[in-house]
Amino acid sequence: MSLPKVRGKQDLRINLRMNLFELDPNNPIPLYSLDNILRQGCKEHSLKLDQHLGFDIQGTEQKVQANKASADYQHKETWTHISPQVFQTSYVELRFIMEQLLEINPHIRTLADLGAAYFRIQFVNSIVFNDRFDLTGVELCKERILEAQRVYKKYFGTELKNLIQGDLCGDNFVIPRAEVYFIYDFGTHSDVETVLAKLLVQNSANNSFLLVGRGARVRDILQKQFSDFVNPLSQNNNFGIWSYNSSA
Ligand SMILES: C[S@@+](CC[C@H](N)C(=O)[O-])C[C@H]1O[C@@H](n2cnc3c(N)ncnc32)[C@H](O)[C@@H]1O
Repeated sequence: MSLPKVRGKQDLRINLRMNLFELDPNNPIPLYSLDNILRQGCKEHSLKLDQHLGFDIQGTEQKVQANKASADYQHKETWTHISPQVFQTSYVELRFIMEQLLEINPHIRTLADLGAAYFRIQFVNSIVFNDRFDLTGVELCKERILEAQRVYKKYFGTELKNLIQGDLCGDNFVIPRAEVYFIYDFGTHSDVETVLAKLLVQNSANNSFLLVGRGARVRDILQKQFSDFVNPLSQNNNFGIWSYNSSA
């Protein structure tokens, strides 16, 4: 069964007694006000949607674990020590973030998820936003990419071409251009610093962009070391949205 596409904005404020974290095929990724919701409920909802989409997360994570010692993953943060429901942003929160971005600038199109894991943000884009965002995901672990590609093709009937394999910190890796970058604590402290510095160098010629920072690490580094990013346009317990303008 495929889920119908949901268009438009529906502010379904949470009422936990009504069990709104059940998967509703008519509204598979509802818009909740994040101030009111429980993170645990978002994770449970994401687990159900992962299952509905057909992800084999457990089997894929075992493959990542088995390759952990390989040269590609050495000295890298692959997050295999914690649950995929923790190292990924929930579908509900991703929708909320994307709606916030459109409120800041309704013309936003290009968005890059730096350290994308199973590229949930693209599934939100296809299910909720009718693919209005032009997304690129970059992910280190090829096992997660292959699984996202398999599930996307099976579910939507089209190839997932915009999730690319690479090490964001590699000397020759050029971060894809985008109007918005999304970073959820993808890597080690020094890898996150490297990528933020790369973003500034790559965008030094008269460019502006937004940065969604989710997680304590990236937000701490931004606040303490990167004054080029001006005060968050939006901020809550989970994420902030910063702006950068090279000509400012
Ligand atoms: C915390 S998860 C976030 C996933 C996704 N952005 C989300 O919010 O749901 C970070 C992902 O970044 C990947 N990663 C870690 N270091 C990386 C690097 N140097 N280059 C590319 N991806 C990396 C990890 O394998 C992991 O899948």
